[in-house]
Parts: sequence; structure tokens; C-alpha cells
Amino acid sequence: MITTTGLTKIYRSAQSRGREVTALDGVDLHVREGEVFGVVGQSGAGKSSLIRCVNLLERPTAGTVTVDGQDLTALAGRGRRAGKELRRARSSIGMVFQHFNLLSSRTVRDNVELPLEILGVAGQERTRRALELLDLVGLADKAKAYPAQLSGGQKQRVGIARALAGNPKVLLSDEATSALDPETTRSILQLLRDLNRQLGLTVLLITHEMEVVKTICDSAALMRKGRIVESGTVGELLATPGSQLAQELFPVGGTASGPGRTVLDVTFLGAAATQPVISQLARTYNIDISILGAAMDTVGGRQIGRMRIELPGAYEDNVVPIGFLREQGLQAEIVDDADTGADAAATVPAQSPAPVKEDAK
Ligand SMILES: Nc1ncnc2c1ncn2[C@@H]1O[C@H](COP(=O)(O)OP(=O)(O)O)[C@@H](O)[C@H]1O
Ligand SMILES: [Mg+2]
Repeated sequence: MITTTGLTKIYRSAQSRGREVTALDGVDLHVREGEVFGVVGQSGAGKSSLIRCVNLLERPTAGTVTVDGQDLTALAGRGRRAGKELRRARSSIGMVFQHFNLLSSRTVRDNVELPLEILGVAGQERTRRALELLDLVGLADKAKAYPAQLSGGQKQRVGIARALAGNPKVLLSDEATSALDPETTRSILQLLRDLNRQLGLTVLLITHEMEVVKTICDSAALMRKGRIVESGTVGELLATPGSQLAQELFPVGGTASGPGRTVLDVTFLGAAATQPVISQLARTYNIDISILGAAMDTVGGRQIGRMRIELPGAYEDNVVPIGFLREQGLQAEIVDDADTGADAAATVPAQSPAPVKEDAK
């Protein structure tokens, strides 16, 4: 639904005092139809630039943006005459902002009508549509209120209703919940999730909060210095050994209690999360298992967990138990000492997993 290839944005402005700032450095993004896709990353990573380039609010320096099969960069490149086509294409992309961007002199209903006015929709039809949208976001009774009379969460609901006015297939959201308290955040996320399901709306959202990803995202990408360094469905990310996003979503820590032990990160997805696998493992192979760390949560309605466990003996001694875990449908990755933060001097080359350390015995 949204594809970018080699998307690059270099700013050269007074803000950067004439220096060139590479905000996007060849971003290939692929958001599937009907999914909620989260982009996370530290401040300055290029997240806002990415979303602003996706709807051409910002002209990319290089690369292409395709939304719903239409190459927006090609339209924009055709100059002034393409303006109308680009505007029409853009109207199928809704945008929600962190600070709502409502007009304080207009009522709630008039704020929602604004994009419809710009599209040239006639008065009565505009009003009908605005009231329908306000109903959809749970604000039917606030049509005549002014933004100043609303709470933050209500303002964001108006922002969402306005973003939906043009019947978009895609909703872009830049930190839509960052200015809200945790409870309001949850209700706005739930609204976005409901709209995604009810309207089949594809949502591309930007956030710096892992909680947002956990609550509503099907897929996520991690940005760093203008590049996407990790990307995939939440399940794929959790299944990727060494994934930084997985570690941030489900942080598990813990170091080996001593030499000659095998440390594993085990990921439980869906049905496997509710099976008593660890106790079965202990019973089947008659081994003592220590749990070093664990994190459990529900992601997209699915139980997901990660656990760091320790088995007695070296990797070679544990090939069969590890195979057992994998047979049960679990991800089981060997954690070497470097990753657990154990004595770096004792670390062995990454190629040989958890060997017996003769000198340490
Ligand atoms: N209009 C601009 N002019 C110059 N530099 C900018 C402009 N907008 C953003 N930048 C710079 O681009 C980089 C990425 O910014 P941004 O996309 O806002 O990141 P994020 O949203 O992840 O915090 C930063 O170094 C920022 O200072
Ligand atoms: Mg930003």
C-alpha cells in the first residue's frame, strides 16, 4: 500500500545554518494493505521526515514514493500542472499530528469540514459527512464545541475525524499520542485499531514509545540516522536473533551463573505461550533450568513472551533439549557471553556457540 525506494532527504536550510543534513538516507519501506505499521527510533532519526515525504509535504531529494499504486514522486515531478492530481492523490492520505493542529476559531464540526471544503464538497453533504465522522470517533455530542473546550484526547479524536474526511485508504500519524497521558493514549490507540479493522485503513505511525508498537502494530521498523536498520512483522522481529527491536519490545536480561552453562533466549508466540514447555523440558531431560529473565505481554491480541533460561552444561550437551524446544514451535537462540554482558575476556569467537571454557573450570 505504501512503498518507498531509495528515499533520500537532504535539508539545506537556514535551520541547519547552510550545512547539509541527511535526514533520510535511502529508505526502502514497504507497508502492506490493511496493516498498522510502526516506525520507531530516537529523536533525530528521520521519522518525521519519512512521514512527511510519504505524503509529499516534504519533497524528497531522491527516491520514489508509491501510495495505493500511484507514484506520488512522479506526479510532483511534473510541476505545477500536476498540482491538482497530486492534491487528489493526497486526499486519499489522512494525516494526524502530535499537537492536533486544530483551528481554534472553528467549531469541532467546522474543523472536520475543512478538508471537505478544500475538496469542493457542497455544504449539506459536508455537514452530513462531518457529523458521521464525529460519530465514528465518539464525539457526536461535541460538534458545536470549540477546540479550547476539549480535552487532549478529544482534540486528537477531532484530528482523526478530520484526517478521515477525504475517505483515505492510508492514515499517517506522527507521534499522535505523545502529548497525551497513558490512559488517553490507550483509548486513542484503540480507536486507531478499530478504524484500521472497520475501514480496512492502512496505518503508518511514528512513535518513540515501544508501548505503542506493542499495543497496535502488526509490523515495525527501527530507524537510525536516516536508515531503516530493522523491519518486519512483530512475530518476525521476535524470531530474529539479535533483533534490537525485539529486545526493546521484550527486554530480557540476565547473565550466566557460571562457566560451562548454556544461556538461551526463548520466544513464545501464540499457542506455544500457554503450553507448560519449560516444565516439560525439565521433566523429559531431567535437567534443572534457571530462569534468568522474562517478559510476557499481549501483542495484537496474541500472547507473546520471551524468557532467558540457563541450562547446565555446554552447548554440545544441550543440542537435544534445544531441539526439543524448537520442535514445540518455540524460538530458541543461544546467547553468548558478549550479549549477556559477562566477562568480555572470557568471550569466544562468535562462530563457536558457548563452548566449554577449559581455563575457567
Ligand atoms: N526543515 C529542516 N531543515 C533542516 N534540518 C531538518 C529539518 N527538519 C528536520 N531536520 C533534521 O533532519 C534530521 C531528522 O529529523 P526528523 O525527521 O524530525 O527526525 P525525528 O522525527 O526522528 O526526530 C534531524 O537532524 C533534524 O535536525
Ligand atoms: Mg519527529
